[in-house]
Amino acid sequence: MKILVTGGAGYIGSHTVIELQAVGHEVVVVDNLVNADLVSLKRVERITGKAVPFVEADIRDREAMEQVCQTYCFDCCIHFAGFKAVGESVLQPWKYYDNNITGTLVLLDVLGKSGCKNLIFSSSAAVYGEPETIPVTETCPRGRCANPYARSKSIQEQIMMDMQKADPEWNIVLLRYFNPIGAHRSGMIGEDPKGIPNNLMPYITQVAVGKLEKLSIFGDDYDTVDGTGVRDYIHVVDLAKGHVKVLDSIAGQCGLEIFNLGTGVGYSVLDVVRGFEKANNVKILYEIKERRAGDIAVCYSDPGKAERMLGWKAEYGLEDMCRDSWNWQKRNPNGFTD
Ligand code: NAD
Ligand code: UFG
Repeated sequence: MKILVTGGAGYIGSHTVIELQAVGHEVVVVDNLVNADLVSLKRVERITGKAVPFVEADIRDREAMEQVCQTYCFDCCIHFAGFKAVGESVLQPWKYYDNNITGTLVLLDVLGKSGCKNLIFSSSAAVYGEPETIPVTETCPRGRCANPYARSKSIQEQIMMDMQKADPEWNIVLLRYFNPIGAHRSGMIGEDPKGIPNNLMPYITQVAVGKLEKLSIFGDDYDTVDGTGVRDYIHVVDLAKGHVKVLDSIAGQCGLEIFNLGTGVGYSVLDVVRGFEKANNVKILYEIKERRAGDIAVCYSDPGKAERMLGWKAEYGLEDMCRDSWNWQKRNPNGFTD
């Protein structure tokens, strides 16, 4: 299939391009590089031995997107492009709504008019808000979102549902990712956050590499096994393979489907810290701090629907995720700028 990958130079997109090329899909990446470095795609090319056609464009740029769609006549689009930093979204909501929602509106319009009505969308477990039940199934209602980022995902989902209802020619798969960590086994690509990381694993790896002094653990008084927050960490390569499974099994014939992509296993912050220390033989200094505003105690998936309908199941465990995150950081202490 000929696939448009928006945001394909970013963390999850670049790993997905590898898996798509590995099974013979033709990929074109559109990215404005607002949160990525073109080096990531150069590294992808070295890993796969195949060229990755790249167009530097903002998905809100209608003319540029029309040009790309006309040139390539895509069969399907995998839509990763968007902003994702929760804290920043609270401070700059307009920026988030504009980029994430305007971007999706323009993309849907241009894709539809070009005749490509097959779409896979990067959604998030954040749309569940404080989940009603654990493990979270796809039938759990979208909740009261804790921040503009999460709300932008929830709104984008709703837009896609409404579009698909109005025009049943659309085939749309909403993938709700849990907490992606890890990196490609080669250590050549991985997550390269700008500034101080917001998320747990990049923070840990930057402590390990000596760029940050110690990890702050946000709260040890939650109602969990050790008082720290519990999440469903999933290896980014497993996540990437989930997209390939969607293309293999249902893309183009589903109407609209929603899948959780997680492992179904919850680990606490302390589990991750200890898992990282054990897998890599590195000590992580930490201190317990106040709870972080907007955090929930526990969130992990029921990934059974993806297994039943897509034949997809996460294969990597916590040790693999910790090893591969560290391998990437150790080899690239300054990310792609090395
Ligand atoms: P990322 O920031 O590494 O990748 C997003 C890419 O989109 C970047 O390369 C960025 O330059 C590009 N981009 C942003 N706005 C654009 C625009 N207007 N036009 C063109 N390109 C644009 O993030 P990621 O972790 O790879 O996440 C990919 C998707 O998955 C995002 O939509 C994100 O919200 C979603 N998601 C991520 C997580 C996570 O924890 N990483 C969890 C759930 C969902
Ligand atoms: N945590 C710390 N210290 C840190 C960072 C995080 O203790 O420096 C804790 C958090 O309190 C939480 C856990 O580690 O208990 C995970 O936090 P992350 O920030 O790594 O991830 P979140 O679950 O808060 O959110 C992430 C993404 C969201 C996405 C969500 C679900 O940031 O965008 O996963 O996919 F929506």
